[in-house]
Amino acid sequence: MSLKLGVMASGRGSNFLAIQNEIERGNLDAEIALLISDRAQAPALELATAHGIAAQAFPYDKSDRSAFEKKAGDAFEAAGCAYIILAGFMRILTPGFIDRFEHRILNIHPSLLPSFKGLHPQQQALDAGVKFSGCTVHLVTQELDAGPILAQAVVPVEEEDTEESLSRRILEQEHQVYAQAIQVLIAKHHAMA
Ligand code: GRF
Repeated sequence: MSLKLGVMASGRGSNFLAIQNEIERGNLDAEIALLISDRAQAPALELATAHGIAAQAFPYDKSDRSAFEKKAGDAFEAAGCAYIILAGFMRILTPGFIDRFEHRILNIHPSLLPSFKGLHPQQQALDAGVKFSGCTVHLVTQELDAGPILAQAVVPVEEEDTEESLSRRILEQEHQVYAQAIQVLIAKHHAMA
């Protein structure tokens, strides 16, 4: 049986789409059962619908984060999602949600973790003057951008790079590396079946 995934996205959804494309090409034995957003106007919602995937937005109230998370968590469980894929989900999850889906939430971060955690990691890389940056897929734990690493890709930093140009080249690698990490989960799932 293919691995059921849930996705959380706040924005354009290119990482979601890259994963969905790999599924549709038959390269990943997985199914995205549901995409949830914290923003009703997120382009990721329309993309999901266009690919025949159930998509829902729930209101997000910063002063009561667990209300959104309860709805999202219940919906993922009802849809039978084994893993939750954070694909440009721009909110910090509460410890309660992370516990509920312990070792079952994946995130992608556009730096070679443990370097450049948090916001604007591409600009952080430029400011530090590193010659290589990249992206990391990791399991989500209570500590921000710090869980066990599943996959990484390296991207050289060019002399003339701006935050935008480096982000663009890293994003191309994000689209490859997320599918690789999910492949690791699928292999594990098959080994356990
Ligand atoms: C990606 O760079 C991801 O690493 C970061 O937010 C961006 C989301 O892009 N967390 P998209 O919505 O998947 O196109």
